[in-house]
Amino acid sequence: MEIKVSTLSENTALHGYIGEYGLSLFIEAENKRILFDTGLSFSAYHNAQIMGIDLTKIDCIVLSHGHLDHTGGLAEILRRIGKETEVIAHPDVFEPRYTLRDGQTQEKFIGLPYSREELENRGAHFTLSKEPVFIAPHIMTTGEIPMLTEYEKVESNLHIKDGGNFSADKIADDLSLIINTEVGPVVFTGCGHRGVINILFHARKLTGNEKVYAVIGGIHLYRANEERIQRTISEFKLMGIQKLGVSHCTGFHASAKIAEAFPEGFFLNNAGNRFILP
Ligand SMILES: [Fe+2]
Ligand SMILES: [Fe+2]
Repeated sequence: MEIKVSTLSENTALHGYIGEYGLSLFIEAENKRILFDTGLSFSAYHNAQIMGIDLTKIDCIVLSHGHLDHTGGLAEILRRIGKETEVIAHPDVFEPRYTLRDGQTQEKFIGLPYSREELENRGAHFTLSKEPVFIAPHIMTTGEIPMLTEYEKVESNLHIKDGGNFSADKIADDLSLIINTEVGPVVFTGCGHRGVINILFHARKLTGNEKVYAVIGGIHLYRANEERIQRTISEFKLMGIQKLGVSHCTGFHASAKIAEAFPEGFFLNNAGNRFILP
């Protein structure tokens, strides 16, 4: 099976495209057109137009989690599509999410910036599930990711606000997209907040495949310590990963280490980039 990926939004951009902190991928496989995340604001729609991609023809939108940099473009994209569109996400995607900084005194809203009603009025038809959702026989979401490794933790500055109180946000809604190919699963991550190895362990379990062919997306290692980066790379090797198009929140240091460990398989995936897998 051939998978075509067009990167609509990412922190950095190729010539002629707009870079914006966040992620949005347009994925074509098994006769489906899937929009995986929507970027922070207008960049995904804008870049899609430049790339000649007609978003009115998508089959569904998958939201990797509720963070603003993955969901901010959703309302405008739905308005432009102008018809009912399935949006697949975890039920916790609407949780009011914040970061707390400066000794927990400065709060910043980083959640999904629209209400469910607002999005439904623009045509969103939500499929909210903690379990995997099949989009085609070989395409599925992971559903909720079990946290198994002891070296992967959700960042401590992420919170959910309930009334006036903050509690630690475990980003339970963090889900990935799996496309199973003849050479192994391709796993698309948003931020990978639950830990990329936890995500890949779950993908292996769901597909019954010991090997993983590719990881594309953000893997949130930008503040990871050396031990976590090294253990992540060791697991990538054990899983026989061939392609790593990781960007967004992976961070420069971890990206450089991964590029060094996978000189053939690593590539920078920026807005405007297109590639075919396997
Ligand atoms: Fe992100
Ligand atoms: Fe995130």
